[in-house]
Amino acid sequence: MCGIFGFVSKKPVTGIGNMLQALKKLEYRGYDSTGIAVVTQKGIYSQKKAGRISKLEPFLDKKVLGSVFIGHTRWATHGKPSDKNAHPHFGCDNKIQIVHNGIIENYKSLKHELEGRGHRFKSDTDSEVFAHLVEEFLGRKNGSEIRYFEEAVRLSLKRIKGAYAFAVIHQNYPKVIIVAKNSSPLLIGLSDQAKYIASDPIALLRHTRKVIYLNDQELAIVTPDQLKISTLQNKEILRKYQEVSWSEDAVRKTGFTHFMEKEIFEEPEAVENAIRGRLIVSQGLAKLGGLESVRQKLESVKRLIITACGTAFFSGLVGEYMLEEFAGLPVEVESGSELRYKRSPFDDKSALLAVSQSGETADTLGSIKEIKKTGLLTLGLVNTVGSSIARETNAGVYNHAGPEISVASTKVFISQLAVFALLTLFLGRQRSMSKNMGKLIASELTLIPRKLRTILESSVYIKRVARKYFKYNNFLFLGRKFNYPIALEGALKLKEVSYIHAEGYGAGDMKHGPLALIDENFPSIVIAPKDSVYDKVVSNMEELKARKGKIIIITTSGNKGLDKLADEVLYIPKTIEMLTPLLTVMPLHLLAYYMGVFRGHDVDKPRNLAKSVTVE
Ligand code: F6R
Repeated sequence: MCGIFGFVSKKPVTGIGNMLQALKKLEYRGYDSTGIAVVTQKGIYSQKKAGRISKLEPFLDKKVLGSVFIGHTRWATHGKPSDKNAHPHFGCDNKIQIVHNGIIENYKSLKHELEGRGHRFKSDTDSEVFAHLVEEFLGRKNGSEIRYFEEAVRLSLKRIKGAYAFAVIHQNYPKVIIVAKNSSPLLIGLSDQAKYIASDPIALLRHTRKVIYLNDQELAIVTPDQLKISTLQNKEILRKYQEVSWSEDAVRKTGFTHFMEKEIFEEPEAVENAIRGRLIVSQGLAKLGGLESVRQKLESVKRLIITACGTAFFSGLVGEYMLEEFAGLPVEVESGSELRYKRSPFDDKSALLAVSQSGETADTLGSIKEIKKTGLLTLGLVNTVGSSIARETNAGVYNHAGPEISVASTKVFISQLAVFALLTLFLGRQRSMSKNMGKLIASELTLIPRKLRTILESSVYIKRVARKYFKYNNFLFLGRKFNYPIALEGALKLKEVSYIHAEGYGAGDMKHGPLALIDENFPSIVIAPKDSVYDKVVSNMEELKARKGKIIIITTSGNKGLDKLADEVLYIPKTIEMLTPLLTVMPLHLLAYYMGVFRGHDVDKPRNLAKSVTVE
């Protein structure tokens, strides 16, 4: 949903190279156009172009000297990807330039008003109104005092409705970036030589690990020597920096062809990192430090509402099966985009759990804010430390999976499943789960990383299956009970990276409709570990076979009973039923990845998508 990066340095530097490197780290947020602006002694130097960063690069003069740099990589919302719609956007005389991540909901009426005052617009975007608003409020007060510039930005922010992270520069202020945030993420990095602004800490790792997150409706004046954070009402805020612990290797491909491939191969490590130090196997207990402050409240919770989007939503569905069966806790899973507008009745024995890799998804965040108004306890299951969802919720659990760069989520999905298993232990042992059951779940969970590594050893075979099937245009994914959400996840992943039409369905529901699609050209991928619904799923496969459907089966190693039904069989090691999703999903991630590669797509950056969806 657009990436913003910028910096103000103490001395003038030729910083375009650094800017582009940082913007490339943010390309996962949007990659349909790119632009940069630099305040130089002769005025503002800026360039923008439709397309990826590499398209803009040849047009840039990398020798340009300046102390203030801002850049943007776009994911279009208003106005198609084109040179004129790329950021930065200018006021009438180009002295003010802005980059924006978000949506200005009332831009039409503002544009109409500003046009009435003589402003001329050059793009079809909502963002451009902000540059004109600042210009309008600044009027002729173009003196060198920062307070005029600050006040104009503050007044402009008060006029707009919607989500934003803005960076604003002005030709007459060669040492200042003004930034502001509401719903879209923005943080400030501190170093001795410069101050940085970015949408995500991964863009800052080469420069600094000291970061300050802005909160909603805050504005900051960023200069090399000063950082002033204030509310829109101009109440000054003092905030200490936090240290980012991610390593730089985490944001490099380190020998893999794509980040998606690297991140699937990191799935065993993602589970290890999620459970490290959090299990007391001999007691059958889980220790979740982030929930200690609300431990007592959690004891009396009678209903859990899980909210999330996309892949994180599917992890929530697996969580529902785990928590209901093993912790005896009633659970509902609601899409973030729906829950925020639903008027569901909640009593004070309910709690909300938001699941999100980025911690910035607007729909999920919107639901939390809505539900908080009812006074409910809110929890987060988040990967990005310090993100908006982490800060907005009362308590929570981090994944510790490290940064996930590929747009399609893989290692964080598996890590979310591992945390749901921990949560099941934590809440289950507070309720009726026996110590023996706790010990079984805990000990089996510790074995999952090793079992995932054995699946990786069969990646060559999975690649061969992908090569055989990548030209098919439709796939049905079927699973039941714990593996029903895995069928949904498998289908989503295939769609995203290979653009093949895929449907995820409950194996038992197939006969209520999708079966009509099946013929020899419509293969099915069936998740059928040896579990409590295995026999039912085998019957469903018989129904597919009777319609000449090809079947790729994922089942438990040692199960030789499927040879007659299967066109291909992928095996996973044995584990307890509740944990099978952690193993069955890995072959599906690999299949989707290889099919996307065989189809010739940029699997890390699927068309039309962006990693962090900070608009509605
Ligand atoms: C799919 C995918 C998306 C995200 C969804 C929520 O592979 O990555 O469906 O899961 O946009 O994102 P987060 O988890 O950041 O809230």
